[in-house]
Amino acid sequence: MTEHIQYSPDKDALVLLDQRYLPTREEWFVCKTVKDICEALVVMVVRGAPAIGVTAAYGCYLAAREVAGTPDWKPALAAKLEQIASARPTAVNLRWAVRLMQAEWAKHPEFSFDELADFWLATARVVHVEDIATCEAIGRSGADLLDDGDTVMTHCNAGALATAGYGTALAPIRAAIAQGKSIQVIANETRPFLQGARLTAYELHKDGIPVKVACDNACALLMQRGLVQKVIVGADRIAANGDAANKIGTFGVALLAKEFGIPFYVAAPVSTIDPETADGSLIPIEDRTPREVTHVGHTQITPDGVGVFNFAFDVTPARLIHGIITERGVLTAPYTEAIAKLFK
Ligand code: MRU
Repeated sequence: MTEHIQYSPDKDALVLLDQRYLPTREEWFVCKTVKDICEALVVMVVRGAPAIGVTAAYGCYLAAREVAGTPDWKPALAAKLEQIASARPTAVNLRWAVRLMQAEWAKHPEFSFDELADFWLATARVVHVEDIATCEAIGRSGADLLDDGDTVMTHCNAGALATAGYGTALAPIRAAIAQGKSIQVIANETRPFLQGARLTAYELHKDGIPVKVACDNACALLMQRGLVQKVIVGADRIAANGDAANKIGTFGVALLAKEFGIPFYVAAPVSTIDPETADGSLIPIEDRTPREVTHVGHTQITPDGVGVFNFAFDVTPARLIHGIITERGVLTAPYTEAIAKLFK
């Protein structure tokens, strides 16, 4: 599944499958401006760390188009790039993509805005295509960790929809199945946005991969009954010591996996590792709109006037992680050394 993020030359726009409406409606959201891109990121038309990185890369191109004709276009463009980079705080891929575009610009200060726009569109297309190849390599790195007959639990959606295609946490599962292994998936529903129930189940079912959805609070029982052999989750940012931020609830799954002796893996591209963030306590945690918790669809489920928590991510300490599956192999503890070596 790769069609969910498309650059349309005819529309000169980024066209996104609107993930708010899956699995029941397949609607498309057209981004022609930086305002559209930021809206798509904030309301989660597109979500998942690598997918928002790819979206941000195209957003930089649209930003360059938008400043065309502005006399003082360079500061105006720099401000738009910052707007994109700060649309969501936790996933480092957003900033990674914008910083990549800025670095390319710095190499060509002589470019007119037209030249820069063309150059950035070409760069965004490379980022887009490379993301799929990276996910496939994550699959190859992780496939051998899975045994024939395993049931793998995952939390949130770190699949094709969260990337340009193929996925991160779902990549080793797809690759193990391609090797001929029989693998089943348990998708935790992932309150409140329901990425597991709506998105992971949607894409795996579409691809004929056996999947069952479990309520988030069923995790302990399923593990206690021996129904889970491995856990693989994605990540939004991995600190230099291996602490990994992922969707809220992931930390609890990791603690339970430890209790029941189940290997817990994080799968992510190297671009999700942030060597500048020393440990997980320094990763900013997005605090989203209360409405995602107070309502399910249009139905209010909490009393008027009652406050809620809606932190979107938590941080799993490195000590609970058996391995970090990347496109460059599986990192194991001590992570500080393994990550430093990767960035040398
Ligand atoms: O809020 P989201 O849906 O963008 O959060 C996504 C996750 O937490 C994913 O598990 C993570 O980004 C890995 S995506 C390959």
